Formats: sequence, C-alpha cells, structure tokens
Amino acid sequence: MRGIPVVESLLTVEGLCVDVSIQGRAYPALRDVSFSVQRGEAHGLVGESGSGKSLALRSLMGLLPQNARVSGGSAFFNGTDLFANNGRNIRKIRGTGISMVFQEPAVALNPIARVGTQISDGIAQRKGLSRKEARNCAIHMMSLVGIPNPELRVDAYPFQLSGGMRQRVMIAASVACEPELILCDEPTTALDVTVQAQVLALFAGLKTELNAGILYVTHDLAVVSELCSTISVLYAGRLVESGTAAEVLGNPQEDYTRALLSATPRIDEPGQRLQPIPGTTLALRDRPAGYSFAMRMADHGPGIQSISKEL
Ligand SMILES: Nc1ncnc2c1ncn2[C@@H]1O[C@H](COP(=O)(O)OP(=O)(O)O)[C@@H](O)[C@H]1O
Ligand SMILES: [Mg+2]
Repeated sequence: MRGIPVVESLLTVEGLCVDVSIQGRAYPALRDVSFSVQRGEAHGLVGESGSGKSLALRSLMGLLPQNARVSGGSAFFNGTDLFANNGRNIRKIRGTGISMVFQEPAVALNPIARVGTQISDGIAQRKGLSRKEARNCAIHMMSLVGIPNPELRVDAYPFQLSGGMRQRVMIAASVACEPELILCDEPTTALDVTVQAQVLALFAGLKTELNAGILYVTHDLAVVSELCSTISVLYAGRLVESGTAAEVLGNPQEDYTRALLSATPRIDEPGQRLQPIPGTTLALRDRPAGYSFAMRMADHGPGIQSISKEL
C-alpha cells in the first residue's frame, strides 16, 4: 500500500517491482521487494549474480537502464516519495541526500579529470567554495578514506592510481557532500582482501561519524556479516528472507540462505568444506513464472538436500 510509513526509517522500500524489456517484451526483474534502512546502520542486500541487486539500487537513484522501469511499489527517503513527481524528487536528493558507490570505479570516474576535482566538484558548487577551498576539501576527504599523501595525489588522474586507490576516490567523491544514505554496489568486489578490509572499516566509520544509513549490495555474506546489522536475501528478483544479521546468518530459515552460507568461507572454521551452489540463476528470459530456488535445485539433482543435511 502506498503511503508514508508510520515509523519513519531513513529509507523505506515497499513492494518494489522492476520490469526489464527485452525485444519488446517485459520481464519481471524485481517483484514485491521490501526493506528499510535506518540512520547510522548498514543494511545488506545479498544474493548471487543476476538476483536484481543492481537494478534495486539503480531504481532508487533514478538511474535504471533505458529498457528497465519501476512497475510497482514505493520508496520513501526521509518521507519523500522517490518515485513520485516523474523522477524530479530523486534528482533533487541525488548526491546530497543519497549517493551511490558503483561496482566499477573505472566506469564511474571521469578519466580526463583530476581526482581532486571529481571529489570536490559537487560540494564546491553547492557551497560556492573557492578553488583553494575545494582543493583542501578534496585533500581532507582523501585522507578520510585512507589515501596516503593526499596533497600529491589530489592532482592525479584516475589512471595514475591503483584500483584500490580509485575505489577510495570514488567513495570520497560520494561521501564528500555528507549524504544521509550511501548506496553501495559491491564496492569491494574488485579489491584484494587487505584493501577490502580497509574499505569495510571505512564504511563502518562513516556510518558512525556521519550517522549515515548504508545500503550495501553484495554476493558475499562474509562482507555483510562484518558491516551490516540487518540483511535481506534476494533470489531471482524476490525477497527470500530478511531480519537481523544474527538471525539470518545464525539461524537461516530458507534453503537458499543456507546454500549461500555453505558456499561462504568462514574465518572461525578454517579448513571447512565449501559447498558451491549448483547451477546459476536463470537469465530473465528463461525464468519460468514463480521461478524459485527449489525449481533450480530440481534441475540440478539432489544438491540442496545434501546441503541441508550437512548443516
Ligand atoms: N538493461 C538490461 N537489459 C536486459 N537484462 C537486464 C538489464 N539489466 C539487468 N538485466 C538482467 O536482470 C537481472 C538482474 O540484474 P542485476 O540487477 O544486474 O543483478 P545483480 O546486480 O544482482 O547481479 C539479470 O538477469 C540481468 O541479466
Ligand atoms: Mg550487480
């Protein structure tokens, strides 16, 4: 039902549906997905590749691909209906209220602009900062995200930095305006584990320092368990289960969540046998109506039964 939620979260998504059109036919990529994000808290949106995580984030930013559209549901940010007013509400909030850290920094950063300028552009325009002030602001943000020697690197171009540093630049650019909500699309997937741990610590810090809400999309339950206090699990565009991280990871109710957990390495159980999930999520066009995890498993032999028994 559309309407302002009674207990106001920072972000409340209810019944989100997104259709993707392929060769003139609409396919359901997200169906009836609901979750919320509180201030000062990270919510993890978890699922394998193809589950619809990126489309969910992009719908909130008004940045869906041309052939995708929100076909149902609502999203309220601080009481503002993001999908109303023909996308104008989102455009007003984008960058200041909500910002997004993309999966691939190489795509999100402008290759021919200095990184310092990319970090401070938004805030400089809004606050009417001088060039010097903007540069100092960029240096400050770069040190906040753990970039060594920011006074030197502020004038670098993206190609002059390593992948890890570029990812940090992108994070600095997206938090420079002190957004209330940060949407993260697998921002650590391309990083090695050491840098990944540093970036996670950085998000944990921002959550507390800025009292920001974080919506953190990943296929990696280990990442989520470190950062997020609540979790929603997506499978093929539908919500499988959600709850506190302790509930979902400690006592999963659904076969799919159990399978994801069995496929995730655990720090406290070195040497345990990982159980990969058989098969992959079917492409949108090939999914039968009501495509479920059980249907996938039926096509891939007794995999899930043996997973369940082992737990
Ligand atoms: N623009 C598009 N055109 C066609 N199919 C798309 C498009 N965007 C996403 N899809 C399909 O929608 C499903 C969900 O995509 P996505 O949100 O990117 O998943 P995830 O981020 O969880 O890996 C996938 O099957 C993907 O191939
Ligand atoms: Mg994705």
